[in-house]
Amino acid sequence: MSVTIATLNKLKRENRKFACLTCYDSSFGQVMSDAEIEVVLIGDTLGMVIQGHNSTLPVTVDNICYHTKAVASSCSYSLIMADMPFMSARTVESSMDSAMQLMQAGAHMVKIEGSDWLIPHVKALKQNGVPVCAHLGLTPQSVHALSGFKVQAKQDSAANHLINAALQLEKAGADLILVECIPTNVTEKLHASLSVPLIGIGAGPNCDGQILVTYDILDLPPGKKPKFVKNYGSNHSILAAISQYKQEVQDGTYPGPEHSFLGAS
Ligand code: KIV
Repeated sequence: MSVTIATLNKLKRENRKFACLTCYDSSFGQVMSDAEIEVVLIGDTLGMVIQGHNSTLPVTVDNICYHTKAVASSCSYSLIMADMPFMSARTVESSMDSAMQLMQAGAHMVKIEGSDWLIPHVKALKQNGVPVCAHLGLTPQSVHALSGFKVQAKQDSAANHLINAALQLEKAGADLILVECIPTNVTEKLHASLSVPLIGIGAGPNCDGQILVTYDILDLPPGKKPKFVKNYGSNHSILAAISQYKQEVQDGTYPGPEHSFLGAS
């Protein structure tokens, strides 16, 4: 059995949490499948953890396609989500073109960073049979516009804007909403209003699914990581670490308050 969007909706209806991780190659694809991780993301973080850049901006659609093919060759259990990299959604046409390549490389859905300006992109992709995850909050492709990797939607006006944008994207057809680095209370409000599954990273426990960068949870390379990362790597095999992460997402142990942010209200 492999995971589909219907599986994620069912888990949400049954109030059961699911685990998502980034994945960039065939070996890890097999481990993710064995650990029954529900969603694997071929994320543009590959620009940082694989290619060694200090942002995700240099990553191309061809790069994501290459890694998607590698993951798809071995990962038979998980839903395979491919990232639309920097500027691949500069027009609706380029979104369609990029998504076509990613789906033909083996993705089951695409993830696209932005806000309410994504509405026509989501509509066009959905019309053409491409499931979409909309990524809001800290959108790392806008790191320079945001003046760094910072917690977003801390003030009420920004929080309301994010929640409205997510609801509009859901109405436009987004199958999943992903929020990054926002305060726990904002996630809670959003979760209470959304019908589609909500995935969080650095967004606290009030989500249907959690996602992290696999290299971060394995402490690869060893060193300082963002506050929301928990190290599952020490003294464990990679499979045991990933299985423990899945277990903790399911039973709500991860994320704890020490992995979450406080907002204004
Ligand atoms: O590219 C990526 O890995 C991501 C996750 C951090 C959500 O977008």
